[in-house]
Amino acid sequence: MELNSSVQNPERKEYSSVCVGREDDIKKMGRMTAVVHDREVVIFYHKGEYHAMDIRCYHSGGPLHLGEIEDFDGRSCIVCPWHKFKITLATGEGIYQAIDPKDPSAKPKWCSKGIKQRLHKVTVDNGNIYVTLNNEPFKCDSDFYATGNFKVIQSS
Ligand code: FES
Repeated sequence: MELNSSVQNPERKEYSSVCVGREDDIKKMGRMTAVVHDREVVIFYHKGEYHAMDIRCYHSGGPLHLGEIEDFDGRSCIVCPWHKFKITLATGEGIYQAIDPKDPSAKPKWCSKGIKQRLHKVTVDNGNIYVTLNNEPFKCDSDFYATGNFKVIQSS
């Protein structure tokens, strides 16, 4: 079900919100997957909040819907089941621990690689969950696995 029709402009595609399921269901399962305007997404329900993102990990296309959610440095992250990359649910940043080689006694510090996984907007209306694709025109690594040939191979 769509709230309004999709409008395209030459600069940027505008996407309508798409109903992906019921609030009751995602609260029970903690996550759900959906195809929104031909893009595969995963929606997590964690600590009372919804987070939607591209389903394939920005690193090599791993299936994020099969990962575990863990907190690192106070930030909730989905941990990719393939190579354990950590992606923050709130921002889509790839985070990692680094050690200063010039100071080996220092404790490892959490660092960010910046936004690597494209997040999408989740809204709830009358018990239904809607996802609106994020069309911000920035280069996001997860776009590669969400579009084109890779997506077709993974979906088949
Ligand atoms: Fe996700 Fe490598 S594919 S960590």
